[in-house]
Amino acid sequence: MSIQKIGVIGIGQMGSGIVQIAALAGFEVLACDQTEGHNKKAQVFIEKQLGKLVEKGKLTGEAQSAALAKIKWTNNLSDFVGTDLIIEAITENVAAKHELFIQLDKTCEAKTILATNTSSISVTGLAAVTKRPHQVIGMHFFNPVPVMKLLEVIRAVQTDDATYQTAVAVGEKLGKSVVTAKDSAAFIVNRTLLPFLNEAIFTLYESVGTAEDIDKAVKLGLNHPMGPLELCDFVGLDTLLAVLDVMYKEFGDTKYRACPMLRKYVEAGWYGRKVGRGFYKYS
Ligand code: 3HC
Repeated sequence: MSIQKIGVIGIGQMGSGIVQIAALAGFEVLACDQTEGHNKKAQVFIEKQLGKLVEKGKLTGEAQSAALAKIKWTNNLSDFVGTDLIIEAITENVAAKHELFIQLDKTCEAKTILATNTSSISVTGLAAVTKRPHQVIGMHFFNPVPVMKLLEVIRAVQTDDATYQTAVAVGEKLGKSVVTAKDSAAFIVNRTLLPFLNEAIFTLYESVGTAEDIDKAVKLGLNHPMGPLELCDFVGLDTLLAVLDVMYKEFGDTKYRACPMLRKYVEAGWYGRKVGRGFYKYS
């Protein structure tokens, strides 16, 4: 299927990156967040990101204007009627995602493919709440979306070949290298990353090292671009806890038990960089 118009729902740190790369790749984009205020904030952020690319000489002023002109904004799901593909990037909450997919399934034309950027939740379960389960798929991007080269495409057990091939083709047009993952909790990358990040939090919890030393050790000892605690703050502690809880529930294995310190920080609202406090404080 040829995709011209992409809808993105949930314009937070992942959604705004998806909107940006989709517009730069020449797709018509309809972006939707909860309120006008949320949209405005995301719009300003995307304009700033594109402006930085122009300043660095990586994008021409014309290409910037062309990309911005491709993006339309709404707060209303009924505006998604004519879209070919919708990528959902709302909060990592099963009930909220199910509710959204039920609504989109009712609203959208039969041709529309519904994709989720979930980090861990069952794509098969999401497909099952719709009347188009064969047109539901996972498209899992990585933060920061414009920089990270990978896209994981996750087939629900119901996903048909045409939907899968379309998602792969869109991913490649967005400039991503695509891997295919089975619909198993947290897929490939988060299945391997989350136990590592959780263990780094336990290392801090048990005072094996300070936050700074844990990050320094991993950065210099393993040549990682960021230390694990810095990465936790970057991704969002709320998201990480949600993913670990899905893994623990799905696999029933205590190796996925979230560190109590992570749970406590999330209870405190210390979600990381986006709120100014996580394992570190940000001004
Ligand atoms: N948006 C767009 N571009 C960004 C960016 C952002 N948020 N942050 C950094 N960049 C760009 C910079 O502009 C710079 O571009 P340039 O080379 O053209 O000048 C380039 O990335 C490098 O940035 P910096 O020089 O400022 O800093 P670093 O070299 O430290 O790189 C980083 C920053 C790319 C974020 C690097 O630290 C990194 O790769 N960190 C690891 C990120 C990671 O692991 N992401 C995956 C998380 S897991 C996930 O997302 C899955 C989810 O489901 C949980």
